[in-house]
This record gives sequence, structure tokens and C-alpha cells, in this order.
Amino acid sequence: MAEQALLRVDNLTKVFLSRTGLTSSRFVAVDRASFVLPMGQHEILTLAGESGSGKTTLARMILGMLEPSAGQLVFKERNVLTLKDRERRDWFRREVQPVFQDPFATFNPLRRVDSYLRETARNFRADANIERALADVGLSLREVQGRYPNELSGGQLQRISIARALITSPSLLVADEPVSMLDASLRMSIVNLFRELKERQSVIYITHDLATAYYASDRVAIMLRGWIVEFGPVRRVLGEPLHPYTQLLKSSVLEPVPRASKQTEHVSLAVADTAAYHAGGCRFAGRCPKVMDICRTTEPANVLVDDRLVKCHLFAPTVGEAVSAGGLMNNSVKGSTIDGMAEPEHGTGAPV
Ligand SMILES: Nc1ncnc2c1ncn2[C@@H]1O[C@H](COP(=O)(O)OP(=O)(O)OP(=O)(O)O)[C@@H](O)[C@H]1O
Ligand code: SF4
Ligand SMILES: [Mg+2]
Repeated sequence: MAEQALLRVDNLTKVFLSRTGLTSSRFVAVDRASFVLPMGQHEILTLAGESGSGKTTLARMILGMLEPSAGQLVFKERNVLTLKDRERRDWFRREVQPVFQDPFATFNPLRRVDSYLRETARNFRADANIERALADVGLSLREVQGRYPNELSGGQLQRISIARALITSPSLLVADEPVSMLDASLRMSIVNLFRELKERQSVIYITHDLATAYYASDRVAIMLRGWIVEFGPVRRVLGEPLHPYTQLLKSSVLEPVPRASKQTEHVSLAVADTAAYHAGGCRFAGRCPKVMDICRTTEPANVLVDDRLVKCHLFAPTVGEAVSAGGLMNNSVKGSTIDGMAEPEHGTGAPV
């Protein structure tokens, strides 16, 4: 029997349809994403990858804010996609809470910040939890009571935003770029806060920033154009990346001063090349320094290499063992450090 999971993301797919005049087109923003967060073993799983790779779309499906086009989403062994409205509202929304990117946009400048906490507490009948939630983020009600957003720093506002998410005592937080709008000096304090919060719940942490991903998370999923192309323990995946795309991402992080060519490439990556999404073959073929003929015609399989999955023909079954994407099961920890990035702390777990 399959091991009990907190969250089972199984071939989750989102296709956006757009219509221009008489023609309509399909755009696959997330393509058969699969992974499992184990039950009773809290972890921080990072989704990382270039702009437009599908991180937010995947997060919104997990939060129940966007309906998947295909695939399954199972939380605490219940099929989220078939929940009744009442179960969704009273149970699932309590259990899985979002933390948004921009604390300045989250709060209306004309509204006192504590009113947001009270509103969430009222909606979920959890008034008694406000003080505890604020204490969990290092604040007290006395510090925030009656204050307007402009009277607080970005770091304080993001802590209040996280406290709001904690009021329902969720089992999972989904934080989409929660530090990207903060000053560099404040980022690490919020990243450290997520590490402390891991004591009580798991976190899906979305970021462009591989350094904080390496520091904060246990496992990482590298996304490229809707695919998860490498997945495994963060020290393995970012310490010794196997997928050529992860290698490219890492090399651009570790370069002290980005070269003009890299900057140009980053801009071009941000523009979705929809033709390449639907061409067949590997979606990285046009940019891959190791591209082979097969890469242009055949989609690579997910291959298990030691304790990680790699979606690349270089690791075809003669090298590793081809597995279905659904084989991404438990968290595991092995590996080395990465120059210029701090050593993360990890829980323990069974190998993938
Ligand atoms: N509602 C929508 N309709 C059509 N296309 C969409 C919609 N939402 C997202 N997309 C497209 O899906 C792709 C993935 O978008 P998504 O926001 O998930 O990427 P992301 O990895 O979060 O990017 P970023 O790092 O810039 O936040 C993008 O090409 C985006 O333009
Ligand atoms: S499948 Fe081919 S093109 Fe894609 S990353 Fe691997 S080697 Fe490069
Ligand atoms: Mg996003």
C-alpha cells in the first residue's frame, strides 16, 4: 500500500486556452507535475526555475485557486478536486494557506493591519489563535494593533501576512516568492522564519533565488517550461546539478557580475516561446549545450539517478532507471555543500 502522504500531486496539468479572432491556441503552463510531501515529516520544498516556467500556476492549483486541466491533487488522502464547496471552505482552506509575494499590495493602505487578522480569525472561527500566530512570527498584538500598513516596515508586514496564514493552524503553507519584494537585509530573517515554522507545518517555497532555496529547503523541484526537470534533495540538486538546465541556473547564480550575454538571455527566457512548448522533444533543446539528435524529437523520460529524478536523455535507462513521474515519493538527504551558499539543515527520511 502507498505510504500516507500529506500532499500528493499527480500529473497535475494546466492548459490555458486563448482565442484571437477565429483561431484558438492551447498553452501548457504546467505539464504533468508530480511529487509527494510525506505525512508527519515536515519539510520545505522549493519550486525554482525561470520566469514563466509554471511555478505560480502550480502553486495556485495546489491552493485550490485554479482548476487543473488534468491530474490529481490529494491532500491527507482526500481528493481535493472532488471536495464539496463546504469541505473546501471549512477544511481544505484551513489546512493549506497561501503567503503572497508583495506585502505592500496585500494590505489596503487605508485599513488597519490587525483587521485582516481578525477577519481571517472570524471566517475560520479561530479568534483565540491571533496572539499565538503573531508570536510565531516574532510579533505581538500590542505591536500591530491599530497600525496602518505605512506605519510598519516591509519585513513586519510580511510577518503579519504570514501570521494571518497561521491563524488557521495549517498543515501546509504555499509561499510564492515571499521575500522577493523585501530589501536584501530583511530577506534572510523571513527565510529563517520559514525554517522555524517548519517545526509545525510543511512549506512549499517558490523562488527565483537559488541561494535562499539552498539555505532554506530540504528538497527542490527545478521547473522549465511547465516541466519539473530535476527533483531531489537540495544539497544534491543544487550542489551537483545533473540536468543541463539546472547547471545553467546554478552557473548564473554563482557568477559574481552577470555578463551582458547572460542578462540578454534572461530577458529572452522571460518571453514565452509557445512554439517550443508544443514542438515535441526536450523543451531545453534550443539552448542546451549537450543537445543530441534525439532531444529534438523525443520527450525525455524521468530517470531516477541515485536519489533524484532527472528529465534528460543524457540519463537514459542505461545510466539510471526510468520511472514514472509519480515515483517522486519521500524526502531524502545526502550530498555536499555548494560554494557561496550556506549549509542547510535537513530532516531525515527514506530515499526516493
Ligand atoms: N491566466 C492565464 N492565461 C494564460 N496564460 C497564463 C495565465 N497565467 C499564467 N499564464 C502563462 O503560464 C506560464 C506560466 O506562468 P506562471 O505565472 O505560472 O510562471 P512563473 O514560473 O510563476 O513565473 P514568474 O517567475 O515570472 O512568477 C506563463 O507563460 C504565463 O504567461
Ligand atoms: S534532453 Fe537533451 S536537450 Fe534536453 S537537457 Fe537533456 S541533453 Fe539537453
Ligand atoms: Mg510566479
